[in-house]
Amino acid sequence: MTGAATSYTVIDGRKIATEIKAEISAKVLTRKQASKKIPHLAIILVGDDGASQTYVDHKVKACKEVGFHYTMMRFADTISEDKLMKHIDQVNRDEDVDGFIVQLPLPPHISVEHITEKIRPDKDVDGFTNRNFGSIVSKHPLLLPATPFGVMELLKRYQIPTEGKNCVVIGASRLVGAPLSMMLVEEGKATVTICHKYTQDIKSFTQKADILVSAVGKPGLITADMVKEGVVVVDVGTTRVEGPQYKNGFALKGDVDFAPVAAKASFITPVPGGVGPMTIASLLLNTLRATEIRNP
Ligand code: GUN
Repeated sequence: MTGAATSYTVIDGRKIATEIKAEISAKVLTRKQASKKIPHLAIILVGDDGASQTYVDHKVKACKEVGFHYTMMRFADTISEDKLMKHIDQVNRDEDVDGFIVQLPLPPHISVEHITEKIRPDKDVDGFTNRNFGSIVSKHPLLLPATPFGVMELLKRYQIPTEGKNCVVIGASRLVGAPLSMMLVEEGKATVTICHKYTQDIKSFTQKADILVSAVGKPGLITADMVKEGVVVVDVGTTRVEGPQYKNGFALKGDVDFAPVAAKASFITPVPGGVGPMTIASLLLNTLRATEIRNP
């Protein structure tokens, strides 16, 4: 088959997220008809970072689409860590709120770890707390980290087998690379290698990958010479690249040099429209689950 053009499938995260939202809407309607509690998501936003505002707008829009109740809580970037902790305590105790998130990044004087660990694990619908991270390896996961959950769901819905496959995850972050690697091992029964900034000769690992996940945030990091024919590529990188040629002055870029890598791939996620929409779909799924646990 030398010289034959490879055909690849673009994994359509928007389409899958729309399907998931339709499934959630139907469940919300059933709950409504049975006079059960409607899921309520609260979103805490600190400061006025433009990208965070856009992400939060998408989350609010998604809540409206599926019929969830939502509350937006905004604070100035001068708020102290102590004050923010007190607000989180309030939301933790608010019986009507089923799940909540604190949008990241936070201003530098506030510790992400302190704030994250203050969130009640059963309301932690981002799945950021140590309790929920640890629950990946338990028989009874509580609320799974949203982006990794979204990646696993994409692989499942495209019927991409993971069992016994050689998965290489680039990026060992606490929010994406590390939990996703554990989920690929636990749920996916895959053989997983985690590469990070100290890894020597990354290419020697990526070239062996059946499934390659990049979660770094460096546009152009993954080039065609780094992958083998037939690879499944999942691009979790989302970097805002500014330039006058882009509508709105910026564009979202993944880690993968898309066209040349796609030409060698069997499946590949685009940016935007791949993993991104799945993070929000997972957030909604987690909020529904948190509601079902609290109010069956
Ligand atoms: N900032 C960028 N992505 C996310 C996310 O998924 N959750 C939160 N809370 N903050 C983010």
